[in-house]
Amino acid sequence: MIEGFDHVQVAAPRGCEAEARRFFGGLLGLVEVEKPQALLARGGVWFQAGNQQLHVGVEEPFAPARKAHPALRVRPGALDELAARLQAAGASVYWDEALDEDRRFYSEDPWGNRIELLASRQSLARRGAGTTVRRCQEADVPAVLGLWEQARSDHASTPDRLDDVKRLVAGSPAALLVAERNGEIVGALIAAWDGWRGNMYRLAVRDGHRRKGVGLALVRAGEDYLRQCDVRRVTALVAFADQVAEGFWETAGYPLDREIGRRVRNL
Ligand SMILES: CC(C)(COP(=O)(O)OP(=O)(O)OC[C@H]1O[C@@H](n2cnc3c(N)ncnc32)[C@H](O)[C@@H]1OP(=O)(O)O)[C@@H](O)C(=O)NCCC(=O)NCCS
Repeated sequence: MIEGFDHVQVAAPRGCEAEARRFFGGLLGLVEVEKPQALLARGGVWFQAGNQQLHVGVEEPFAPARKAHPALRVRPGALDELAARLQAAGASVYWDEALDEDRRFYSEDPWGNRIELLASRQSLARRGAGTTVRRCQEADVPAVLGLWEQARSDHASTPDRLDDVKRLVAGSPAALLVAERNGEIVGALIAAWDGWRGNMYRLAVRDGHRRKGVGLALVRAGEDYLRQCDVRRVTALVAFADQVAEGFWETAGYPLDREIGRRVRNL
């Protein structure tokens, strides 16, 4: 009998229309749909959300729904950008990593109603299909050094020494992550937590395995590790005028902060 959802409604105080358009239209990118003539006088704004609609309706007296909420599904590659956009606009962003199949965070609309935004992890993983990212073991260290010798950035200036990398793997609060394809280590990244911020170093993907999503899979796994350390801000040390690195970090969602000369992302 029931065919599915037609719409969900979130309540808002009288006079909510301009804020609703700014938040749901401007920030979340939903397209407004015209309200039927017969309902116009009641106030509120309607938006299309995929095949369904989200209606912002006036309720008096108004009290925000702090728990009950609509959940909006987001294109996997766009979830982080959306979180950054909301934060930049002053909205709250609370990540919840409890689900294996989806990445998601909660935010609040301008009136304090809870909203969930989620995206499938699987579709992200599909880009890097066949790639496994895991912590580096001591036995992997020679392979990682070999990889860095072949593939690390031309701008990396300090030599990589076996003992240093072993120490990194054995007992530092930094994660050396490796990406494996068919049993071969094809990529590596250091996601470091200094007790305050997160930093990413030494990202490299072996020639012949590039543009398959391996670099992005490493960075996302590094972010997952840093989130576990409660890190909220991550910087990446990237050489200026390196087109490959710039292209990669832009796509990964790390715009250049010109004041400090580093690429930065808020988690
Ligand atoms: C930079 C590097 C790690 C990228 O790894 P990768 O596995 O090829 O990256 P991904 O496949 O995950 O790329 C994701 C996106 O980043 C961008 N990107 C990656 N390589 C790029 C390049 N050469 N030029 C421009 N954009 C690039 C693209 O948008 C790409 O998505 P697309 O392939 O769908 O267009 C790899 O090229 C490398 O190891 N380079 C040498 C070492 C280095 O420069 N490290 C960076 C130090 S900061």
